Amino acid sequence: MYASPFFVKGFSFESNIFMAPLAGITDKAFRAFLRCFKPGFMFTEMVPLPALFHRASLLEDYIDLPVEAKDTGIQIIGNNPEWFEGIAIELEKRGLKWLDINCGCSVPKVLKQKHGAYLMREPERCRQIFRAIRNSFSGICSVKIRAGWDRSSLNYLRISEIAFEEGLDVVFFHPRTARERFSSPAEWQWVKNLKMAFPQKYIFGNGDLFTEEDVQQKWQYSEVNGMLLARGAMKAPWFFSCIRRYLRGENPPPPSLQQRLEYLMVHMDCLIEKKGERKGVKEMRKFMGWYLSGMYGVKKLRRYLPGMKTRKDVVRFIQIVYNMHLIS
Ligand SMILES: Cc1cc2nc3c(=O)[nH]c(=O)nc-3n(C[C@H](O)[C@H](O)[C@H](O)COP(=O)(O)O)c2cc1C
Repeated sequence: MYASPFFVKGFSFESNIFMAPLAGITDKAFRAFLRCFKPGFMFTEMVPLPALFHRASLLEDYIDLPVEAKDTGIQIIGNNPEWFEGIAIELEKRGLKWLDINCGCSVPKVLKQKHGAYLMREPERCRQIFRAIRNSFSGICSVKIRAGWDRSSLNYLRISEIAFEEGLDVVFFHPRTARERFSSPAEWQWVKNLKMAFPQKYIFGNGDLFTEEDVQQKWQYSEVNGMLLARGAMKAPWFFSCIRRYLRGENPPPPSLQQRLEYLMVHMDCLIEKKGERKGVKEMRKFMGWYLSGMYGVKKLRRYLPGMKTRKDVVRFIQIVYNMHLIS
């Protein structure tokens, strides 16, 4: 079963290909833009629990509830079960549909705090967190895990077992260890193992999904219930529409330069609307590099990116890129 509607806990989703949580990327502006490409569901950036517990209003920086609850879940990172419980109660009140627990982040600063993928070393703490959330939140609960701390301590089967014992609904699995971060390829064999171990449960795979073929092959191989796209969609958000068309048997060409320039403008306007012109344009620069990557002449023009400060600067840049193509 792949690329199809997804149903869990009485909720339905048009597609089982979701946008992964990405710190610094999947903010309100990115999600507003990503809606053009119809992901099945999306997640906020990871929201740090200690800060959130002390100031629940911080939530508003990450998600507009209850409006965004229809297509966006919150991912929480922390390690204190009581704090998880407190926040889950708040989220329940505010109409959140999906809450995800981060047991996968391997950024050194996060591991030092014993958050994120550090929890893979602490199965009993995981259990307490899962239980605390399940007892206080009636929506969909998931956990996003890595394969273990390192290759000598792979425990994704055990952590998933605990998650399901405690009533979590979905496991998102990024099959690398915490120690590896991104240094080695995602091990889809482990995803397949997990799905085989829990054939009746919902498992989503994640890792190294960059092309339509990657998605199809890894899906056929692992037989997961869904996929989470991360870097592939971060650099090319239209990946969601391309995959849908590809899996229907079409062979969609990559978006033309004109389409990419249009996308870029739409995303920038979302950023400006949410963050103001100066901040929005500044943040847009990294996306511009990604969205235009591979286009003729763009390498040379990259040096102008840091100087762009206003929407007008960007429009001028777009005009130059476009004219270059017309005369090339
Ligand atoms: C810039 C960036 C930010 C990320 N932020 C988060 C995060 O907030 N929460 C999380 O669970 N994973 C985070 N991840 C991990 C991704 O969700 C995903 O698991 C990982 O990138 C593997 O998928 P990929 O190989 O398709 O990129 C982040 C990854 C990147 C590259």
